[in-house]
Amino acid sequence: MKRILIPVFIAAIGMVTAIVCAGTDPLFMTSTGIGPSTAAYQQFNEIITGDWQQYGQLFTSLQAYLFSRLFLLVVTFMPVIFFFHYIAIGPKKFDHRGKRIYYFSIFNRIIHWLAAFSFSLLVITGLLVILGKILGGGAIIRNGRSLHILSAIVFTISAVPMLLMWLKNMLPALYDIRWLFIMGGYLNTKKKPIPAGKFNAGQKMWFWLATMGGFVMAYTGYFLWGLQAPVDDLRLMAIIHNFLGAALVALFLVHLYMSLFAITGSLGSMINGYKPKEEVDILHSRYKT
Ligand code: HEM
Repeated sequence: MKRILIPVFIAAIGMVTAIVCAGTDPLFMTSTGIGPSTAAYQQFNEIITGDWQQYGQLFTSLQAYLFSRLFLLVVTFMPVIFFFHYIAIGPKKFDHRGKRIYYFSIFNRIIHWLAAFSFSLLVITGLLVILGKILGGGAIIRNGRSLHILSAIVFTISAVPMLLMWLKNMLPALYDIRWLFIMGGYLNTKKKPIPAGKFNAGQKMWFWLATMGGFVMAYTGYFLWGLQAPVDDLRLMAIIHNFLGAALVALFLVHLYMSLFAITGSLGSMINGYKPKEEVDILHSRYKT
């Protein structure tokens, strides 16, 4: 497993590091002279050739510079995209006074809000920890770390029933490919039936990343919390935790934007369980009640 994971992550680290470092040192990766750029490049070579044990220094710099920048990039870049989408295309609006369909049971809603609350805390406290140095450290960051663990436990517990209750509706379907091609119809506000069942392809991706990714986060986080593993394993765990964490935060922000802004009144369905029939007919045209 490690044999497959390590090169994949090294390639990902290489690409992201090159992009992030290019802003501060344009010669990074291309310089042939003696200096910090070359040293970093040599370190990459060592990793690529498989000398995992020797790259503690690179790992330290990834931890100190790359991950915090990556998270900062996610939390600033994503809202900018949403802002432009909202201005240029705008939200989808459906008739909330007409017929309604019962969509989310009370059990669905309780589990969802348990997961939502704990996950939101995980995101906030995770950002506090990763940006701790920039924020000046101190008691807030230390308490944030403890709250991070507590919310991780609550989230992991709620992710199990969430996985089971929606598993069947979240299985991939052929029409999901068409949904992806038309980007769910979110590039316009036309009311044309969209190919999706109870959940669309975007919601399915979020579901699988949040649940399965959540379990991987819990597993890697468990070792990082206790530091009870060989140092190389801990480095790998930290790399997975940070990259996957950044992807989860990005999709979490997409989920927030979709639920709170992109479809007017969507939040209501997660509060009272009902969706307007018009919305279901258009956005979930393959859903059979
Ligand atoms: C505070 C943050 C959150 C808000 C406001 C929120 C809101 C909502 C709303 C309104 C829906 C119904 C969407 C629709 O079908 O129209 C929904 C669905 C869902 N939520 Fe959340 N949610 C939040 C956080 C989360 C978190 C943290 C997770 C998982 C870790 C999650 C997982 C899901 C899933 C799997 C669904 C069903 C598929 C989907 O609509 O994406 N939500 N949420």
